[in-house]
Order: sequence, then structure tokens, then C-alpha cells
Amino acid sequence: MTDPPLEPMPGFAEGRMQVHLVGFMGVGKSTLGRLLARRRLWNFLDLDHLVVRHVGLSVPEIFARQGEAAFRAAEAHALRQASLKPRTVVALGGGAWVREGNREVSARHAVSLWLDCPLEEVRARLGEDAGERPLWSEPASVERLFEQRRELYATADARIDAAGAPEIVLARVVERLGAIDPGQ
Ligand code: S3P
Repeated sequence: MTDPPLEPMPGFAEGRMQVHLVGFMGVGKSTLGRLLARRRLWNFLDLDHLVVRHVGLSVPEIFARQGEAAFRAAEAHALRQASLKPRTVVALGGGAWVREGNREVSARHAVSLWLDCPLEEVRARLGEDAGERPLWSEPASVERLFEQRRELYATADARIDAAGAPEIVLARVVERLGAIDPGQ
């Protein structure tokens, strides 16, 4: 897989003062988000954490007690709130971009980056953490979700090859953002 050429893209010059990291569960959005925020001296927000804090339950508990629809509503609310904070990297949950309104919020406030990683590498990375993800339970449905969501993630401003160590992926992200905003 090759990344697209580093041509200038619409981005920060339009006043979009955030970076939104999107992509499937386990591709490294939170790890990368923290590293990127530290590098740029920006804030970092993890959408799942905001939801958990707001609702007062863990993600599996929200799914089990209130259902996925309630989780999605809380997620959409948290994204709108998070998007108001300037100079912020936001790691979105893997399903956040399924909702069109969320993609619109990203388009308005952020440069969006799709962290794209093969499912096999995701499986290997997630290991025991998978238990924290209610939608990870059944292999066939994970594969279906992975395929279905690719076309939504592909509408992000840029695709980043997220295979490999976090520092390597960070270098790719920094290079890509440099093409979006050479001043950064
Ligand atoms: C979900 C991904 C999770 C979390 C929830 C649902 C999804 O976030 O929001 O379990 O629908 O893909 P991560 O992508 O951070 O694992």
C-alpha cells in the first residue's frame, strides 16, 4: 500500500483547528493522538474517555445497560463539545464516523486522518484489551464491520499507513500534516 503524494491539502488555513484521528478499533488512535499532541504542544482528547466521564459508566457497561444507541448519542454529544477546543488532537472511537453528523462536525473543525492498519495487526495488538470493546466479540462481525467502515474512513482528509511502531506512524502523520500546513 502506498500513501498518496504529499500535495498541499485544504486544512488548517481554513481555520480548522483540530486533528481528528479516525479508524477501526485498535489501530492506535489514542496512542498516536497522545504522541502527536505532545509533538505539536496541542491538547489531547479521547472521545471514549469523554463519554465514560460524562455517563459515569465504562463503555461495556453503557452498551450492556443502556444499549448502543445511547452510547452513540453520548458519543455525538461529546464530539460536538470536544470540537470547540482549539489546538486539540481528538482520538475518535472507531464507530463515531458511522454517523453522518459526526463526519460533518469533523469536516467543520478538524483535519481528519484515517489510521489504516491491516485487521491481522489490529488483532495482534489488541490481545486482551479486546474485552473492553463490546463490538469485538464475534470474529465474523468484526471482519464485516472492518470492511463496511473502510469506505467511510476513506472520506477522511488523508489516509495514514498505521502499520508498525507508534513512532514510525507518528513520523508519517507529522510529514502528512506538514504537507497540509507547512507552517507547523
Ligand atoms: C467502537 C470503538 C471503540 C468504542 C466502542 C465502539 C466501534 O473505540 O467507541 O467500543 O464501534 O468501533 P476504539 O476505536 O477506541 O476502540
